[in-house]
Amino acid sequence: MEGEKVALSVGQVAFLLGITPVLAAWAYSELLEYRKHLYPSKVHSDLNLVDLRGYSGQAVTKDEEKSVLLEGGILESVNSKGSAVSVKAQLLKLFSLDELFLLECRPTLRAIAEFAGILFYFYLCDRTTLFGESKKSYNRDLFLFLYLLLVIVSWWTSLKKHVEKSVASGKSILYLNRHQTEEWKGWMQVLFLMYHYFAAAEMYNAIRVFIAGYVWMTGFGNFSYYYVRKDFSLGRFFQMMWRLNFLVIFCCIILNNNYMLYYICPMHTLFTVMVYCALGVFHKYNELPVVMAIKFAICFFTVIIIWEVPGMFELVWSPLTSIMGYVDPNPNKEKKPPLFEWQFRSGLDRYVWIIGMIYAYFHPMVEKWLERLDELEYRLRALLKTIIVTVAVVVGYLWYQHIYKLDKYTYNKLHPYTSWIPISVYICLRNISQPLRNSSLSLFAWLGKITLETYIGQFHIWLRTGVPNGQPGHLLSVIPNYPLLNFMLTSSLYLLVSLRLFELTGTLKSSFVPSKDNKRLSQIALVGLSIACALYGVAFLLIKL
Ligand SMILES: *[C@@H]1O[C@H](CO)[C@@H](O)[C@H](O)[C@H]1NC(C)=O
Ligand SMILES: *[C@@H]1O[C@H](CO)[C@@H](O)[C@H](O)[C@H]1NC(C)=O
Repeated sequence: MEGEKVALSVGQVAFLLGITPVLAAWAYSELLEYRKHLYPSKVHSDLNLVDLRGYSGQAVTKDEEKSVLLEGGILESVNSKGSAVSVKAQLLKLFSLDELFLLECRPTLRAIAEFAGILFYFYLCDRTTLFGESKKSYNRDLFLFLYLLLVIVSWWTSLKKHVEKSVASGKSILYLNRHQTEEWKGWMQVLFLMYHYFAAAEMYNAIRVFIAGYVWMTGFGNFSYYYVRKDFSLGRFFQMMWRLNFLVIFCCIILNNNYMLYYICPMHTLFTVMVYCALGVFHKYNELPVVMAIKFAICFFTVIIIWEVPGMFELVWSPLTSIMGYVDPNPNKEKKPPLFEWQFRSGLDRYVWIIGMIYAYFHPMVEKWLERLDELEYRLRALLKTIIVTVAVVVGYLWYQHIYKLDKYTYNKLHPYTSWIPISVYICLRNISQPLRNSSLSLFAWLGKITLETYIGQFHIWLRTGVPNGQPGHLLSVIPNYPLLNFMLTSSLYLLVSLRLFELTGTLKSSFVPSKDNKRLSQIALVGLSIACALYGVAFLLIKL
């Protein structure tokens, strides 16, 4: 492929067009900051109180594809006065290189620059021959050795006992607390990533269960949030959408990929939206058990209609084929219709998000029940717990023998209806005793926090896809002929970059997606879309000429 001419896609050109002025503005703002330190009095003399109020801390500039709202320093004033300063005025300020304004925006500009730098690194690793690539190889011994080593290390170094008390009852927080969910994500994510890195085909079925676990958590977490907080505001909703899709959209643009290559993102987005709708519609009546029962029934019914009735899935999704379609460019792979991938992936976990919601609904009840259980007299408690553990273990064993061990095609057919079994067994065992409930491994919890970034990053800076829409069939090789050293080096860089991406997504989110100001949110969306369209238009013309 070396001889091929590098042809840029429209998206890539549009990105370059958009990012260049932002990078320039960032460089200028750094210069201003530097000057401010050299001659503190000079800049301050430009500054008066009227100005300060005018710049209520926000500005919009143009970013790659989206408009970007910059909340500079004074965050408090955003909600009260934010809308007063129109997005347009702030854009103007940016383009006129208003010094004070640039200084205020500097942290956001810097975050954008760093983000662009990381995307550039993605491109270098994945689409150029700067680094080599090597073949995946699987060795069960090495695989388990590495995983267990990580478990032991984190056990010795990062085991945390949480002694939080819930304010209301004064009792220890029991059920499904955040550390545990994150730790759980970490357990699964490490195996999931290693499965890709070592091409551990024999773990296929386990990986399906892990992904079901994530989707279960999407249902569980989002249900709890909306049910308890009752916060259906658009701001919060779009913040969540930003978290799920910001990085992936830019990866698609820069690397000229389809959204469906990263199928985890559309899947979680879909199920998050479905939970939002399920709880948001008539949310005043959520307290009534009848209403909730009807809502659960409607969720099941919707899923049955869309996924189980032949032809319905194509009918519903075909208008979105350009977004949800995916065709593997690998010529050795059997050609499938474009929507096949989406149908397959979303179909595997079509029910488990509802199961997650149901668990979340009964969560307070189970929590009370667990508290009561722990107050029981010793012998009775031991008896009950033994019964619970035995039942869980037996159910888990039966599932393992009769379902997990099936070959992958047969297993996939049963997966949507059975994935809740191992999940329930895990939850049950993980929470059976107070000490188990109250401790977690923070190394795994940390890894669990950045799952989205590690998921997306693996394609490009740990593994390699090589071509647009390619599956990551190779490993990124920086140190040829030293597979383990290479593994260590690429893994460290990869984790570091993932962590930065996690932080940058958050920084930019608080800058561009105001949580409590819908008017500004819609202004930003509008300006962002216009800028994106303009950039695409210009890029399109440039390529044609
Ligand atoms: C149960 O286990 C799951 C998995 O770790 C965890 O998310 C949850 O916090 C635990 N708590 C209980 C008592 O369910
Ligand atoms: C809702 O689900 C998405 C996808 O898993 C997740 O990123 C988000 O944090 C969840 N929201 C809440 C409030 O738990």
